[in-house]
Amino acid sequence: MQLMSEQKKIVKEINRIKKQKNAVILVHNYQRPEIYEVADFIGDSLDLCIKSAQTDAKMIIFCGVSFMAQSAAILNPGKKVIMPNMDAGCAMADMIEPEGLKKHKKKYPDAKVVCYVNSTAEIKALSDACCTSANAVKVVSSFPEKKIIFVPDKNLADYVQAELPEKEIIPWNGYCPIHSVIDDEYVQEMKKQYPKAKIIAHPESKPEILKIADHIASTSGMIECAKKDFADEFFVLTECGMINRLHKEIPKKKFYGLCNMCFDMKKNTLESILIALKEGKPIIKIDREIAKKALKAFEKMFAVTK
Ligand code: 13P
Ligand code: SF4
Repeated sequence: MQLMSEQKKIVKEINRIKKQKNAVILVHNYQRPEIYEVADFIGDSLDLCIKSAQTDAKMIIFCGVSFMAQSAAILNPGKKVIMPNMDAGCAMADMIEPEGLKKHKKKYPDAKVVCYVNSTAEIKALSDACCTSANAVKVVSSFPEKKIIFVPDKNLADYVQAELPEKEIIPWNGYCPIHSVIDDEYVQEMKKQYPKAKIIAHPESKPEILKIADHIASTSGMIECAKKDFADEFFVLTECGMINRLHKEIPKKKFYGLCNMCFDMKKNTLESILIALKEGKPIIKIDREIAKKALKAFEKMFAVTK
């Protein structure tokens, strides 16, 4: 990516202070493309969980949304996890409250609870396991129980149900506002416009969209699909920032995307990263008891997916 001269200066400064402070910068695929330039690692939710659990760095600067930075804090109890912009939330993660999940658990006492990583630490603390879009099917299938309460994404729950018909998935009614607006009519129009393009969809999309997709994958999974597939053109059904990421990784292929932006994912900037790094804040804080319980949900996920 071509940076402007002011951005180049900030990138240089971030990279200098990062070394000095023994900090690592973890970046989600949907972040602003200029942030890729200061990243030690760019990935999807699962990749970032793994990297944050493995790092020796003293300080983690997490560029994503709050549930992701919280996950890094849960996985690194002794470390400083800093999120440059604390206001960056996830609309889907806010669609479930602990009280609602507690009621659901009472209603289905013989069900296990799997929560999508797009959820708060409190929800993870009430769950038997957590999962990401890359491993939801594996995590759910690891339980011998037939009934699984799956929160908060109803579309990912539907996807898991379709993959595991032997299970009885009890979904929550949450959804991602960016993915759930994509409809069949729109995709059919795009297919006419780009007849050679293969369709890659994120599992947060509605079932009607997943039915017509050539590939269903997490954000990093999308890069792998596009690399392996012999096609040269892809229509990518996810947040628009993914197009920058795909172009960066696979410059020879063509990617067409949507104008659906997750504004929370764009709240971090080079400027806010530099300030956070200099000041060593704002630090993610999670109640110790909640963090301990939430860690168990992560441990279950790692035990079945490693
Ligand atoms: P991934 O884990 O696939 O990166 O998805 C995160 C997300 O928030 C998608 O909207
Ligand atoms: Fe949450 Fe959707 Fe934004 Fe992902 S794209 S962070 S699921 S609101």
